[in-house]
Parts: sequence; structure tokens; C-alpha cells
Amino acid sequence: MKVTVRVPATSANLGPGFDCFGLALDLCNEVTIDTEAEPGVSWEGEGADELPTDGSDMVSRGVATTLEQQIRHHPGAAIPSFGMHGVNRIPLERGLGSSSAAAVAGVAIAGVLLGPAGFDPSDRDSAYTMFAYAAQLEGHPDNAAPAAFGGLTVIADGFVAPMLAHPALRPVALIPEERLSTAAAREALPEQVSRTDAVFNVAHGALVVHALTQDPDLLPVALRDRLHQEVRLAFAPEVREVFRDLDRRGVPVCVSGSGPTLLAFESDDRPVEDPGPGWRVLRTAVRAAGVEIVP
Ligand code: HSE
Repeated sequence: MKVTVRVPATSANLGPGFDCFGLALDLCNEVTIDTEAEPGVSWEGEGADELPTDGSDMVSRGVATTLEQQIRHHPGAAIPSFGMHGVNRIPLERGLGSSSAAAVAGVAIAGVLLGPAGFDPSDRDSAYTMFAYAAQLEGHPDNAAPAAFGGLTVIADGFVAPMLAHPALRPVALIPEERLSTAAAREALPEQVSRTDAVFNVAHGALVVHALTQDPDLLPVALRDRLHQEVRLAFAPEVREVFRDLDRRGVPVCVSGSGPTLLAFESDDRPVEDPGPGWRVLRTAVRAAGVEIVP
């Protein structure tokens, strides 16, 4: 058996939706398993020269923990050995959900190995189970949800609301060379916020869901945040400059996940310009589908 699993990059937070909102982007990693191949792990693309090949990577961990939990419910399932090869297109540690994509890929591969006892990604209950396993393993449900369901997702208390994003959205990821670990970008955040800032984010959070699904013209205002973006931008002054410049020109922009990538939304009258050397500009689309098994 040779099967490929495809999982999208995701941009979490979307401005005011800190730890709750996420959007799937049409930039996918693919992981192929082959039960006829020698057991082992290999990589190509982003991070190929630094990702572990001893089974401690996030995809392999997703496979192992899912099999462990599912086999309790299906004790008879026989799991074949396999070789695994990953083609990575999502840059690492840039705020584009690479580790959540890896965790979701691992869970989906475990589903393939489980056969009829596994998951069907097109089925909502299966997508929910894959999301829950991946989120528990990787720790960022706001990335795991759009990676599993696709589109725009809101999570709250373990519930996931998947939504269709507005078809006119034209996301542009501005990816700087520098990296920022999510752990460092979280540690710097204040424990307490003022009531004024909390109210600001509740209002803008509701507005941004409306803007992303119904009325993209509202995005320049709706993406404003007072909980995390300023702190993240302070880590990378050059990124902050680009952010400020886009914002001044009325281009909707937010910090993607914990940064340092910026996610902007362009239109014909407000195009996103290339910030110059050291940046990758990735024009993509919202991806309506989450994880999928490639036939
Ligand atoms: N919501 C998380 C954060 C996303 O901003 O820290 C991490 O990808």
C-alpha cells in the first residue's frame, strides 16, 4: 500500500482571534507512506536538512499516539510497517502552522493504517477526531482546526465552527527569513489585559468573522488586535515596519500565528508590494478543504 496525505498551512489568530481563529491556506505538505518500502523517515523541501529521521518528528509522533489510542478501541487491528517520505512546502517556525500540519498528517496516516477502523477526512466526525488528537499532541488547536477542516475555523471549549471564507479573499503571506519560536513569542505576552482591551478584541473578533465570511471591505479595521500583535512585532522591527506600512496604506494585515510572517489580504486597488531582499511573498488562496488522502 502506498498512500499520500496532504495537509494545508494555516494562519492562526487572524488579528483579534488570539488562540481561537484560523484560516487554511493553499500551501500544502504531503507525506507518503509505503508499506512495501524499508521502514524509515526521509524529507525533502522546507527543513529537510534539520528534521529528525529517527521517528521523533511530529508526523511520526502523530502516527504513534493515534495508533496507541485507537488500537484500544480496535484491539484486533494489524498495523504494517512502512517507509515515510515528507515533501514540505510550509516554512518552519514562521507562524504558518507547520507543526500542526505535521501532527494532522500523522493522525491521518494512522487512520490510513487502521483501514476500516480509521478516519474518513470528508466526514465531519472523523475530521473532529483528527483535529482533537492533533491539537492534544501539538498544543495549538487554532492551527489544528483549519488543518483538519479547511476554510475558516473558530474554536471554543473544544468545539469547532468551520466556515466558508468569502470567495474574494486574496491572502498574501509575507515571509521573512528570520524565525520565531512560538514558545518564545508566547512567553513575552502579558498575563493580564485591561477590560478596555478585552472589549476591543471581543468586538473586533466578531467583526473579523463577519469580514472574512461576508464583507472583506471591513478587514482593515476588523483585523486590529490589542492582545498579542504589538508584542510579537517588537521581536522583529523590520517586520513591524512592513506591517505599519501596509496598515498605513489601508491594506488589511495581521501577524500570522505567533509570527514573524505577516498575512495580508490584497485587492486590485490595494496591492501588496514585495518588501525586498530577505522576504518571500506568497500569493495563495484560502483552501476550502482540510487534510485529504490523495488517491
Ligand atoms: N495562537 C497561537 C499563538 C498560534 O499565537 O501563540 C501558534 O501558532
